Amino acid sequence: MAKTPRNFFKPLAIGAPEPYRELPVRLERMIHFFPPHVEKMRAKVPEIARKVDVLLGNLEDAIPADAKEAARAGFIEVARAHDFGDTGLWTRVNCLNSPWFLDDLMEIVPAVGNKLEVIMLPKVEGPWDIHYLDQLLAQLEARHAITRPILIHAILETAEGVKNVEEIAAASPRMHGMSLGPADLAASRGMKTTRVGGGHPAYGVLADPGAEGEPRVFSQQDLWHYTVAKMVDACMTNGIKAFYGPFGDFSDPEACEAQFRNAFLMGCVGAWSLHPTQIDIAKRVFSPDVDEVRFAKKILDAMPDGTGAVMIDGKMQDDATWKQAKVMVDLARQVAARDPDLAEAYGL
Ligand code: GLV
Ligand code: MG
Repeated sequence: MAKTPRNFFKPLAIGAPEPYRELPVRLERMIHFFPPHVEKMRAKVPEIARKVDVLLGNLEDAIPADAKEAARAGFIEVARAHDFGDTGLWTRVNCLNSPWFLDDLMEIVPAVGNKLEVIMLPKVEGPWDIHYLDQLLAQLEARHAITRPILIHAILETAEGVKNVEEIAAASPRMHGMSLGPADLAASRGMKTTRVGGGHPAYGVLADPGAEGEPRVFSQQDLWHYTVAKMVDACMTNGIKAFYGPFGDFSDPEACEAQFRNAFLMGCVGAWSLHPTQIDIAKRVFSPDVDEVRFAKKILDAMPDGTGAVMIDGKMQDDATWKQAKVMVDLARQVAARDPDLAEAYGL
């Protein structure tokens, strides 16, 4: 049962900020993870923050159980100490049934809630998980005079979560978006891969037998196609953003780039970077291609009101391609605002 339209946008606690009607416009090509319990990593934050669109302090998986408190304290220290400018500051908290989640929220929101843009919530199974965090955040925002709503980003990484993805995307005006979590999802589904994202050499299509003696071609297929498509549809239907998550093989930048590019082409706006080398890969992939942007600008210029049909360089354009072009040029404008070289290349 969904809330009525008027109630959907009411704050969930007296004194909590009004929920957003539209997401703030933010460029989020990469969500860069750092482990806040490691002092050396905390020291690198000012330098890394300048290079990334989003910096995320990770408190969940990959943080050892005996370092959970140190990671939380380290994140608060870093958030307090720096001005992040137009780089987004996020955290990934521990999951709802863990012994750490409640303290993550009770300590972080009071301490740095006015700097925190988004909380990434792992292992989301259904809309009930979002409703719980939504209500808790509203209470904490009201108590601690937080002036803008802290958004929720769900990780799609359980079979049940994928089944409920549409309800999760629609659960609250606090929803920012979703990331595909291929490692936990593979485990939850009983998939037979130990990789974190990417393909698998045994998953593919074998061509029919040809002439005698000719080898049969085996083409590797994308294990994540179905889930990414389902996630993008759920997100775009609800006006929120879809992301690809982690790519674990740091020694294979080409495969990382191919995975990110598939996600980009299918509608995702960014991916996680777990290693500094993945920052540039994400920048390259999730900034639109220069030739495509220049062509898209031609379409917009040739069809000022977005209707009718014209031919450009031998290709038919109409209302639908005008919309595709607008998606491309809007994204390019956001990139151009952060990246002067690309601004010039795009002619923006
Ligand atoms: C990310 O959290 C994943 O499980 O892939
Ligand atoms: Mg996970």
